[in-house]
Amino acid sequence: MKSHWVGDVLAGAHDGETVELKGWVHRARGNNNIHFLSIRDSTGNIQCVGKKNILGEEIFDAFRSALIESSMIVSGEVVATDREHGHEIQVSSVEIVGPVDSTRPFPIGESDMLDVDEDGEMTYGGSKHTLDHRHLYLRTTRATTMLKLRSSAFGAIHDYFRSRDFIEYQAPNFVAGAVEGGSTLFEVPYFEKTAYLTQSWQLYAEAAMPALERLYTIAPSFRAEKSRTRRHLTEFWHAEMEMAWASNDEIMGHGEGVVRHIARTMLDEHEQELTSLDRDLEAIASYADNPYPRMRYDEAIERLQALKVDVEWGQDLDYSKEKILTQDFDVPHFLTHYPKVAKPFYHRVDPDDGNYVLCHDLLAPEGYGEIIGGGERTWSEQEILERIDEEGTPREPYQFYIDVRSYGGVPHAGFGLGVDRVVSWLAGASHIREVIPFPRTSRRVTP
Ligand code: 4AD
Ligand code: MG
Repeated sequence: MKSHWVGDVLAGAHDGETVELKGWVHRARGNNNIHFLSIRDSTGNIQCVGKKNILGEEIFDAFRSALIESSMIVSGEVVATDREHGHEIQVSSVEIVGPVDSTRPFPIGESDMLDVDEDGEMTYGGSKHTLDHRHLYLRTTRATTMLKLRSSAFGAIHDYFRSRDFIEYQAPNFVAGAVEGGSTLFEVPYFEKTAYLTQSWQLYAEAAMPALERLYTIAPSFRAEKSRTRRHLTEFWHAEMEMAWASNDEIMGHGEGVVRHIARTMLDEHEQELTSLDRDLEAIASYADNPYPRMRYDEAIERLQALKVDVEWGQDLDYSKEKILTQDFDVPHFLTHYPKVAKPFYHRVDPDDGNYVLCHDLLAPEGYGEIIGGGERTWSEQEILERIDEEGTPREPYQFYIDVRSYGGVPHAGFGLGVDRVVSWLAGASHIREVIPFPRTSRRVTP
């Protein structure tokens, strides 16, 4: 279908040759005798120069008539120059494939990028106009860059787990009960019954834990999350893992391992894109290379209280508190041993101190906060029944979960990583919606 790619031309692979480029018009300028189109394909943008005295009037007029985002095929000689990017095309033939109607020009421009968004925050691509045209916004350089970084993260996660003999495993998305508390459950009419959209793959992964022992997934999770922050989606992509016979410590090793591998992969695959986003490559290299410190919840509370932050022992830490904590760190860090009262029933109580559970959150630096939550699971039948009853949760939707413990329960642990959050942090995004093609938030499900 395509014989040449803009990225290869820019890299000098076709100097002096005649190439045929298929792409879209990114920018246009010129006068009656010479016209410049910047042609974009998925690999880059290149300046194409059309001269009337070379093309003749008819072809030159066709070249000039191409509006922003028209698709076209352009042939010409590759000339190495000392201008921007170092390469341009001296156009010799032109074909417009999908024209753009001059009465309806492409509605997204550079001025739509950094703007006051629907929540009153300064973010990229967040204005009502831009979000209404999200399907077209995806073609902007910034959005395309984010999607490439996102793809790297997905690849790195699969790579990390598969190369360690984890089995990829899928859980249902329609479920009967909560994993992470009832307040963020999406209710769905399900014939004569009510179902919910899953908040996490975890409970169904635990059912397969005795079969597969090491399993993982990357799948959407759903939270009816009303709070409008830069890090909450109602539909997000969740990379989760579960491991038989594993402890909280071992699982943290994998959490650290997979995040470091994502950072390394992004650097290897997209150094140029990260630079274009003004990212500090050394900082990202330090996320890939340096160990992640671990701190107990109690120490975090002491630090916060020393800073006169209004926080009490027993509370889960919200974004505002995590943000303050991350200011002292230049790599991600773990918080472990949260109070039992702050976490759902599935968390295993610490046998050394019944006030705590064996769990962890991983907080990303630069103010991004929680990117992973996980820990050891309550694995004996008696203990899970006690914890469910203690929370006042009905047993019925969790009967399958209890059964898993009745037939050869074993210690096990796992975690969930918010892929969009990790990409948002590594890309330095102004808002989590920047890194997912069609963001779902409490405000919108369209387009
Ligand atoms: O901490 P959470 O709620 O943990 C669980 O769901 C566990 N059941 C996971 C497990 O042990 N298998 O969610 C895990 C991660 C968070 O750390 C965060 O990165 C991400 O999922 N996350 C969200 N990302 C975007 N938007 C939201 N509304 C998110 N809620 C959680
Ligand atoms: Mg959490």
